[in-house]
Amino acid sequence: MKTLLEQPGFLAPSGTIGADFSYLLALVFTILFLVAWGFAKKAQGTRHHKLVLVSMGTMMVYFVAYYYARSLGVLSFEGREGFGGPDEIYKNVFVPVLTIHLILVTLGMILAFYMIPQGFRASDRTGGEYRLKSEELKMKPRTFKIIMFSILGCWALVQALLLATRQNPFGASVAYGLIFLTVALVVGLEKLIEKLLPDGARRHRILGRTTMIIYALILVTSTATYLMLYVIYPLKL
Ligand code: HEM
Repeated sequence: MKTLLEQPGFLAPSGTIGADFSYLLALVFTILFLVAWGFAKKAQGTRHHKLVLVSMGTMMVYFVAYYYARSLGVLSFEGREGFGGPDEIYKNVFVPVLTIHLILVTLGMILAFYMIPQGFRASDRTGGEYRLKSEELKMKPRTFKIIMFSILGCWALVQALLLATRQNPFGASVAYGLIFLTVALVVGLEKLIEKLLPDGARRHRILGRTTMIIYALILVTSTATYLMLYVIYPLKL
């Protein structure tokens, strides 16, 4: 697998199969999200929600593939992350673009996990078509408590497994702790969002558009990173 992913790519002269494949997947899931936005704009709620779920699935495949490729070093994270251009461009262009890209990816993932259940909670299905309900949308205090305690329970379980199975669980404990903390913070943020945007339909439209714009920007930054790494400034061997 490692040798296959390291073979010359098909998109750019200096690219690898691994880099090209992961870029193409990123392209596909972003376009699917944007098409899903188009369906929502045309008031086709059911096609919109189906495509959002498919794109979310593709995005997950992408992340697994990306992580797999990166951990194999295929995208050459060694040295200056495979960047072969001048120091000035590396410091002032490449690093800022890559940093913005990683921040947007994190935000996009968090928002997608928030928006999917919110979409179902904020809509009604009439005559086979999902429609947003224009009314106050609040999470019941009981549901809020159940979700928070479930997150706490899952974290405790993972922590216990790490302690039982690893010799040095510190690094993994911090990483999992941060992941569960982020999930709990996003759920906690719901209370603030409920105050700022009480109407469920308006909340879905405003946060949904923000999420879609973030996806479009992810496409721009990943294209820029790909072009810099494999077309404009590839590593000279
Ligand atoms: C990542 C997840 C999602 C995002 C980013 C998203 C985004 C959006 C956006 C931007 C709009 C408004 C379009 C516009 O006027 O510009 C919208 C409308 C809508 N969304 Fe979502 N959505 C998501 C998930 C869902 C899910 C899971 C459902 C489930 C039923 C859903 C149901 C709807 C409905 C019914 C509309 C209204 C369409 C109409 O105007 O009739 N969405 N969504």
